[in-house]
Amino acid sequence: MSYHATVQDVYRKAAQNPDAGLCCVPQAPKYLPGLVIPSIMHEMNYGCGTTVHAQDMTENQTVLYVGVGGGLEALQLAYYTRRPGGVIAIDPVAEMRDAAQANLQEAAIHNDWFDPSFVDIRDGDALDLPVDDDSINLAAQNCLFNIFETTQNGQPGDLEKALSEMHRVLKPAGRLSMSDPISPRDMPEHLRQNAELRARCMSGCLTYEQYLNKIVEAGFGSCEIRSRRPYRMLDRRRYELEEDLLLETIEVCAYKTPVPNDGPCVFTGRMAIYTGSEDQFDDDKGHVLVRDIPLPVCDKTAVALKTLNNPDIAVTPSTWHYTGGGCC
Ligand SMILES: C[S@@+](CC[C@H](N)C(=O)[O-])C[C@H]1O[C@@H](n2cnc3c(N)ncnc32)[C@H](O)[C@@H]1O
Repeated sequence: MSYHATVQDVYRKAAQNPDAGLCCVPQAPKYLPGLVIPSIMHEMNYGCGTTVHAQDMTENQTVLYVGVGGGLEALQLAYYTRRPGGVIAIDPVAEMRDAAQANLQEAAIHNDWFDPSFVDIRDGDALDLPVDDDSINLAAQNCLFNIFETTQNGQPGDLEKALSEMHRVLKPAGRLSMSDPISPRDMPEHLRQNAELRARCMSGCLTYEQYLNKIVEAGFGSCEIRSRRPYRMLDRRRYELEEDLLLETIEVCAYKTPVPNDGPCVFTGRMAIYTGSEDQFDDDKGHVLVRDIPLPVCDKTAVALKTLNNPDIAVTPSTWHYTGGGCC
């Protein structure tokens, strides 16, 4: 049996009987003034971070949310779009779509600015999105893509298909906001093959480098790492491991911009600082460091600046918390 049947089964049950322990968000949902979140949406928060960031919101944008769950993030995104169909939410599990619809009706009772028509819930699959090419400004998924299997024996995997679908539907320069678990090393085979654990977002995840590579291979030329923190411990005794495996959760925003010839721009919170005798340092590649003022730089630029071995240029380590500005 393919793992897809297990995924459907897990989320059918999670729709019918809210399971607060399924996935686990190591933080409270963002506070948005004037937004009241019904308690059922908290109980059905099956994400592992947030994909809702004010800096991604623009006027009249159309947002796609894949894997609606209980509707919490669809509601938060609708807080910004505030028009019928401003958020399109996709889910292949009928019981989950029904639950999200009911939860949004409940949300309308508590939020007079909100109408359930603001979220267009559609039957569909991340692997074959029922959405036109180049039609979406912001696409998001929370804790779904880690479940998907990757390429095996030369056959494109579900993760590759899902990322390629997100790339297809986004407008040029559109944004893909994602939150997923990552693993510090390759997931051991006996856990990777466990369909139930995979469906519950515990054993399908990739390493940071593998996850980023998949995003870039799908054609996203620039990525921002907005957050990275502990998610779940797979302890050696219960999971039959040689040593404990601490999974992290990562929040990433990827841009549909061409991948530069010398590789993607990946921002992880690194800064470059010039402290020399001139007013500024110009690397002649578009990066001007004003004396003593930190400039956010992508990892590619950070490495290039370090390679100069200039004692007047300091480059700080990744904070995994990038919020904008800087080079590229
Ligand atoms: C881990 S839950 C995350 C729910 C929601 N994003 C959240 O943060 O609470 C995964 C969701 O994806 C849905 N799902 C499962 N397989 C899917 C697929 N192939 N395409 C789109 N959604 C899928 C499930 O029904 C469920 O709603």
